[in-house]
Amino acid sequence: MSSNPNEIQIHDKSFEIFITRDEIRARVVEMGWELSKDYKEKNPIFIPVMNGSFMFTADLVRACKFDSELMFVGMSSYIGMESTGEVSINYGLDGQLLKGKDVIIVEDIIDTGTTLNHFIHTIEDFEPASIAIVSLLLKPTALRFDIPLDYIGYKIPEAFVVGYGLDYDGLGRTLPDIYQLTSGTDEE
Ligand code: IMP
Repeated sequence: MSSNPNEIQIHDKSFEIFITRDEIRARVVEMGWELSKDYKEKNPIFIPVMNGSFMFTADLVRACKFDSELMFVGMSSYIGMESTGEVSINYGLDGQLLKGKDVIIVEDIIDTGTTLNHFIHTIEDFEPASIAIVSLLLKPTALRFDIPLDYIGYKIPEAFVVGYGLDYDGLGRTLPDIYQLTSGTDEE
């Protein structure tokens, strides 16, 4: 195991510090300002996609200068470090409450976009007034769908990341900083 304080071990993989808690805090405040400009006359409903976006959502809504509703939705598409390509909505979606509302979907990370693409189409069927996407992280080179991406915190390379809500096989979510898979411990 490494003695480098910037490096951590989760299961069989090593990760190194990538985006610090201070950098995240500053960027989330900026994103809150951006949203506040666009939603100052509105009371949108945030739909955080669980579990990964729980920490980001808690910080983002406190950085927004408008009142809002929340609807936490549980979805899954990942096993370990791989997207299964199959998306399931596990809990929380009450579509009848979305008709005529301004919806803001909150993601931790957009990788291939499979999860989000599926979810947007599901939400559209409930006839909201508008749909916007907020994601802390985006892997632009992995994206496979033409999705309107309104508010993005960081564009990052395709390496796997953990921390600040993001997990590797269940662990790493509670870390306050974001870590990236150490080069050399490559994904299979
Ligand atoms: P997508 O459907 O391929 O865009 O993947 C989106 C979901 O996969 C995210 O909401 C995460 O739960 C998970 N995911 C994608 N990339 C990563 C990563 O680098 N670390 C942890 N989870 C990830």
